[in-house]
Amino acid sequence: MSFSNLDALYRQVIMDHYKNPRNKGSLSDGNLTVDMNNPTCGDRIHLTMKVEDGKVTDAKFDGEGCSISMASASMMTQTVIGKDVETAFKLSQIFSEMIQGKEYDEEDLDLGDIEALQGVSKFPARIKCATLAWKAMEKGIKEQ
Ligand code: FES
Repeated sequence: MSFSNLDALYRQVIMDHYKNPRNKGSLSDGNLTVDMNNPTCGDRIHLTMKVEDGKVTDAKFDGEGCSISMASASMMTQTVIGKDVETAFKLSQIFSEMIQGKEYDEEDLDLGDIEALQGVSKFPARIKCATLAWKAMEKGIKEQ
């Protein structure tokens, strides 16, 4: 696939998550809640998660923000549900490296739709948009 076709595909994946967000809303039976905002633009995320026996069993997000931030939140919840906490942190680390344009080690982890955001590394101002939900996830689990 050529780079431009790949870019177009990635754009489609991002817009699909933005327009049809996965896991949108708030968990009524979650056991951790995080509110975080991006101070440079005021966009915000409200994340609720259920973490039991070291595993993320459910997650939902709400909030408002640009297409990158909301698509990234949708992808993040989709990716971490069903994963153990260590894997969720590892995915967050890989995502952070990818989004900064660094070499990243996929190991055995399937990044799925997250890879569609790798083009954000060319736009440093948007990196904070893409990492907002991931930082919220890490904060919530660490403070649990
Ligand atoms: Fe605010 Fe992207 S512009 S999160």
